[in-house]
Amino acid sequence: GPVDGRPRMYTEMLEQPASVERALRGRLDERFATAHLGGLDMDARELRAVRRVKILGCGSAYYVGQMGASLVEELARIPADAEAASEFRYRDPVIEPDTLYVAVSQSGETIDTLLAVQEIRRKGGRVIGLVNVVGSAIARACDGGIYLHAGPEIAVASTKALTTMFVGFALLALQLGRVRDLSVADGRRLVAGLQSLPAQIEQVLGDEERIARAAASLATAESLFFVGRVRGYPVAREGAQKFKEISYRHAEAYQMSELKHGPLALVSPEVPTVALVPDDELTDRNVAALHEIDARGGPLVVVTHAGVDLGELRAERIDVPRNERELDPLLLTVPLQLLAYHAALTLGHDVDKPRNLAKSVTVE
Ligand code: BG6
Repeated sequence: GPVDGRPRMYTEMLEQPASVERALRGRLDERFATAHLGGLDMDARELRAVRRVKILGCGSAYYVGQMGASLVEELARIPADAEAASEFRYRDPVIEPDTLYVAVSQSGETIDTLLAVQEIRRKGGRVIGLVNVVGSAIARACDGGIYLHAGPEIAVASTKALTTMFVGFALLALQLGRVRDLSVADGRRLVAGLQSLPAQIEQVLGDEERIARAAASLATAESLFFVGRVRGYPVAREGAQKFKEISYRHAEAYQMSELKHGPLALVSPEVPTVALVPDDELTDRNVAALHEIDARGGPLVVVTHAGVDLGELRAERIDVPRNERELDPLLLTVPLQLLAYHAALTLGHDVDKPRNLAKSVTVE
C-alpha cells in the first residue's frame, strides 16, 4: 500500500538511482574496462564459446530482455534475441548447446519463465538467471546468474526492478564483449556511462512536473501510439504496456519504420503518439517519420536529447540526459514510467491496484 500517502509505485520509481547503484556495486572493473559477474560461474573460455544468446521473460521482463538483446549484439557482436517465456515451451523449442539462455524475472516465481528454464535444462541447455528475489524458484533452477539487488518491489507496475534488469544486461554484454573484440576504449566508455546512470536517473525524475503536464494531455485520449526505432522500440513497448496497465487506455507500440505500413491510417487529432527519438545514427529518419504524424494532426510527445532539432514539428518535448548510445534505453524508459503514473492519477486510478493484474503469476 501507499508509503507516506504516496503510492508504492511512486516511491519505487524514486528509489531507482539507489537501486541502479546497488546493481552496479562491485561489478565494474576500471582497470580492465570490463564487468565481473561472479555468479555466472563461467570462465573466459566458456564465455567465448557462446555463439548465440536467447533471453526469456514475461511482461516488462520480456521487453527489457529485448533491450538486453540489443546490448549483447552491439557490445559483444553475438546474435541475440528475446522471446516471451510464456510461449516458449509450447513450440517444442530447439535447444542449442552453444547458446546461452537467460531467464529474466523480478520475483523469480513466474511460472511461465520457470517452465521455460526447466524445458531448456531438460534438453541440456545452459541457462543463467537475471533475478531480483534471492533464493527464488527461478534463481534455484538456473545454472548460475546475476542478482539484481533492486530491493523489494511491491507495486504491480515494475519500475526499479526493470531498470536494474537493464543494468544486468549491460554488465553481461560488457563482460561478453571484453572477452571478445570490444576494445579497451569502448569498455572504458561503457564503464563510465554506467557509473553516471544513477545521477542521470535522478535528473530525469527531477523533470516530473513537465512530464506530468504531458501526461495530463495524453490521459484524455482513448487510444495512443508509442513508437521507437531499433533501441527505442522495446522502450516503446514497455512504455505502452505501463500506460495501459495503470491508465486503462488503449496504448499500442509500433516500430517507427512500420508506421507507414499500417498504423498511420489511425493517426488523427484524437490519437496522440509518444515517440522515442534519441540523438543517434537514426535521428533524422525518426524526425522525418514524426512529420508524417504531425501532417495528419496527430499530437506528439517526443522523448529526446537536448540539441536534437525537431524542426517545425508541433510537439511537447521531454529531454533526457545524454549517455553512451547503447545505454540510452534506460534513460528513455524512466520518463515513460512517470507518464503512465501521472496519466493514471489524472484519471483517478489506484496505480498500486491495477485491475485484473497480479504482481507475479505463479500458477499455470
Ligand atoms: C506479470 C506482471 O504478470 O509478470 C508484470 O504483471 C511482470 O508486471 C511480469 O513484468 C513478470 O514478472 P517477473 O516477476 O517474472 O519479473
